Amino acid sequence: MKILVTGGTGFIGSHTVVELTNAGFEPVILDNLSNSNRAVLDGIREILGKVPKFYELDCRNEKELSQVFENERPEAVIHFAAFKAVGESVEKPLEYYDNNVGSMLTLLEVMRKYKVKNFVFSSSCTVYGQPESLPVTELSPDANAASPYGYTKVMCEQIIRDSSKVCGLNSAILRYFNPIGAHPSGHIGELPNGIPNNLVPFITQTAIGKRQKLTVFGDDYSTPDGTCIRDFIHVVDLAKAHVAALHWLLKNDNQLEVFNLGQGKGNTVLEVVKAFVKVSGQNLNYEIGPRRAGDVEQIWANVEKSEKMLAGKLN
Ligand code: WQD
Repeated sequence: MKILVTGGTGFIGSHTVVELTNAGFEPVILDNLSNSNRAVLDGIREILGKVPKFYELDCRNEKELSQVFENERPEAVIHFAAFKAVGESVEKPLEYYDNNVGSMLTLLEVMRKYKVKNFVFSSSCTVYGQPESLPVTELSPDANAASPYGYTKVMCEQIIRDSSKVCGLNSAILRYFNPIGAHPSGHIGELPNGIPNNLVPFITQTAIGKRQKLTVFGDDYSTPDGTCIRDFIHVVDLAKAHVAALHWLLKNDNQLEVFNLGQGKGNTVLEVVKAFVKVSGQNLNYEIGPRRAGDVEQIWANVEKSEKMLAGKLN
């Protein structure tokens, strides 16, 4: 069964391609390589012994996207392709709206044309903004999403809700918390193009001397050590949750469910830094700097719904 994976050479996309293959699906990768590169395909080959079909294209290009649907006739689409850095989105709002919302509109249009109904959407806990109460459940309100990135996810979720009937969509909206880590083989991991926006790739690149030092963005928050709290989930667990969501969709019809994908507990930025130093035995050069625009102070997930409906459903 062919599964179209947009953004499939990205951090979460590439790990999901591996787990989809392990589960017996045939992923087909679409990516414009704006935040990844072809070397990821070599990493996937090292792990799987083969490389899934790859199309280098931008999801906003309706003509090229239609051609892929014509050639491949997929059973489902998993849509990762989007820009995803909170801080960067504050500096580049128009690029974020054009890319994240524009590609969603084009993709749903082409899915409708080819009557592809099964849809897994990569959303984010940033839709919750700074929640009133923690942990957040899927019913927690979409508060102030706090950044253009967060608002693109709020809008994309609304586009799915509003187009479900006319497109006959059967959808799972997956709200990720903070994906980190790498496939145990080390052949794929998190290697964004340019200077990393996210915490863990910045830590790892500092540890190998590629970055001079890590700046911790603020230690004056109302948290135990003053730094922000996030819910860090291993990327392979997150990838497996996509397989479980796909299995769930394939057993249902005309669904639209939202799932929190996190660990269900929070850690502070400094706890992550200290854990990295402890596990790697590698000292880390870091300093405390000013807060970063767009950051919420603390958020972590209530994952009961995902545990009930998705956990362990990998076949
Ligand atoms: C985490 C914490 C920073 C870099 C991410 C994804 C987003 C969404 C949610 C998937 C914050 C601090 C960071 C650095 C730092 N996930 N930090 N120094 O902003 O929570 O969002 O998870 O959709 O797509 O981007 O993650 O890793 O950028 O920041 O102190 O150099 O680490 O201030 O408190 P964020 P992040």
